[in-house]
Amino acid sequence: MAILKIARMGHPVLLQRAASVPDPTAPAVQRLIADMTETMLDAGGVGLAAPQVHESIRLFVYFVPGGRASDDPDDKPQPITTLINPVITADGPAQSLRWEGCLSIPGLRAAVPRYDRIIVDATLPDGQSVTFRASFFHAGVIQHENDHLDGILYPMRMTDHRLFGFNEELARYPADLPVLS
Ligand code: NI
Repeated sequence: MAILKIARMGHPVLLQRAASVPDPTAPAVQRLIADMTETMLDAGGVGLAAPQVHESIRLFVYFVPGGRASDDPDDKPQPITTLINPVITADGPAQSLRWEGCLSIPGLRAAVPRYDRIIVDATLPDGQSVTFRASFFHAGVIQHENDHLDGILYPMRMTDHRLFGFNEELARYPADLPVLS
């Protein structure tokens, strides 16, 4: 295993549409997943997409920590999970602003509109296909990581650019922030 270099906003790899993974069970893919998992945990993130480590292919790793989950059955804590060649479909029109950061945009976060509920189709690293529903935080992480596979970074999704700042400053003035769902 190895800790990989994370591309930061401005690197063109982050703006490319990533290619499908032809064989999710290939040893090189398994090695990349192991390295991406180690890199995500080392960096303190909850998700990491392959383009962020300079591999322009359609897979990402993520998890939902207990403290970020909610009571909704589709927003429970999730172990570290890898989704390969995912397809995300909105499950209804409802969207909410949710605070998010990105390991490719260190030190900053913003409120970004995301669908509350999605349906996910993907392949797992063992080659099995899965379909599941995700909501709220769980859905937001998946939408953020899936966007990386299409060359989309969260500032490109923002609707209110006032809700964008450095973590330290936002933490210093919590009373000035709107309460988001
Ligand atoms: Ni990101």
